[in-house]
Amino acid sequence: MLEVNELTKTYQLDGFSVEALRGITFTIKEGEFVAIMGPSGSGKSTLMNLIGCLDRPTSGSVILDGQETSKLKDNQLASVRNLKVGFVFQNYNLLSRTTALKNVELPLIYAGIGSGSRTERAFEALKIVGLEERAGHRSNQLSGGQQQRVAIARALVNDPSIILADEPTGSLDSKSGTEIMNILKLLNDQGRTIILVTHEEYIAGYARRAIRLLDGLVTSDKRVGKK
Ligand SMILES: Nc1ncnc2c1ncn2[C@@H]1O[C@H](COP(=O)(O)OP(=O)(O)O)[C@@H](O)[C@H]1O
Ligand SMILES: [Mg+2]
Repeated sequence: MLEVNELTKTYQLDGFSVEALRGITFTIKEGEFVAIMGPSGSGKSTLMNLIGCLDRPTSGSVILDGQETSKLKDNQLASVRNLKVGFVFQNYNLLSRTTALKNVELPLIYAGIGSGSRTERAFEALKIVGLEERAGHRSNQLSGGQQQRVAIARALVNDPSIILADEPTGSLDSKSGTEIMNILKLLNDQGRTIILVTHEEYIAGYARRAIRLLDGLVTSDKRVGKK
């Protein structure tokens, strides 16, 4: 369902170039739970952004559900991103003065779904993360762990092929972090494909496979223990 072939990304910055990815190749099957690991600066977020159609590679390809995303026009790429990918970021990226429900509805607004069905689907997604009772709260009235659960609901609401979580527990205390990981694990048990970036071994232990990066290259790719 996901193929990454000889992927490279070079950033140009003030006349310097930074080779963030230098030729990454792997395949991820439907239903996998994969941790991407590696030290800060190794290219993890760059890789996630390319897989999630937030950015374009310098060379190589990403094939998501049979579609080579680098060949798509900007508007097609935006639509693949909206419909096929659910993103969860370290800092939640919610609209802070907006209710949990409205935050979760946003991807459905972009997808052109009518308001009645939108509210219903957003509410269902909040139920999955156990926050239906907080639907009317603004995100700045929620704890970090609750905000991340809203972000997971937002990632789920379009029923994406893949969920990409970039250090989703990085800003949380360990109790909230464990809650978030248990939700991701449950979603994977229900068949969702998840790619998770982390630099913590114990977080990676929730995944079944760990791909390690160093300086923009894969250094290992193996099965890991199941929590
Ligand atoms: N937008 C950007 N412009 C220039 N350099 C960048 C940009 N984003 C990332 N980099 C550089 O690319 C490398 C990989 O960064 P990143 O993918 O964020 O690593 P990680 O997520 O593993 O910490 C780093 O050297 C970083 O400084
Ligand atoms: Mg990063």
